[in-house]
Amino acid sequence: MSDDLFAEDDDANTPLEAEEREALIPSYITLRRELNEAEQVNIASAMKWLSSQRGDILDEKFLRRLHKEMFGQVWKWAGDYRTTARNIGVEAYRIGTEVVQAIDDARYWVENETYSPDEIAIRFSHRLVAIHPFPNGNGRFSRLVGDLLAQKLGEAPFTWGRANLVDPNETRKAYVAALKAADNHDFDALIAFARS
Ligand SMILES: Nc1ncnc2c1ncn2[C@@H]1O[C@H](COP(=O)(O)OP(=O)(O)O)[C@@H](O)[C@H]1O
Ligand SMILES: [Mg+2]
Repeated sequence: MSDDLFAEDDDANTPLEAEEREALIPSYITLRRELNEAEQVNIASAMKWLSSQRGDILDEKFLRRLHKEMFGQVWKWAGDYRTTARNIGVEAYRIGTEVVQAIDDARYWVENETYSPDEIAIRFSHRLVAIHPFPNGNGRFSRLVGDLLAQKLGEAPFTWGRANLVDPNETRKAYVAALKAADNHDFDALIAFARS
């Protein structure tokens, strides 16, 4: 595996556009592992911020703020929707509308108990990562959103395979397979994975 900062080390790792590489805030970062580490530190501070928050997770402004809190020390565009195309995700100009629609649907599922709490949280989390609203961090963002929605609905946060899902490994393979099943509207594997 290459240690290049923006190498595409598996098909589920979204490559960055050249213009986005310029948006890196810490100038010392030259290696992917340094980037991963800086992002991890940033996410830890977001978790701290979250513990003092009472905001509703089913709210567009809160979701964007959460992404900014998770990645705003590392990336200039944290919290801003992407403006360029990806191999995963909707066309950039549709992101805002799609996120609002996803929120409306999730609110309806909660009010009407359309699915179990776990299934509501996983459907919403998957919907977000399928939209792919941000230039990067969508996987980690969507999993945290799933955890927060599960908690709002009275469940424990998910365990997501109890492994590092950022680097390529067997657990990540199972995770991506479950995401692909969910792309085809079969959520059972992703729910089971998230509780494994
Ligand atoms: N087929 C797919 N359907 C939906 N989501 C996917 C699919 N393949 C990969 N993903 C998600 O996209 C994420 C990669 O997007 P990215 O924005 O780089 O997030 P992160 O940087 O947090 O990994 C993966 O971690 C995974 O959550
Ligand atoms: Mg990424």
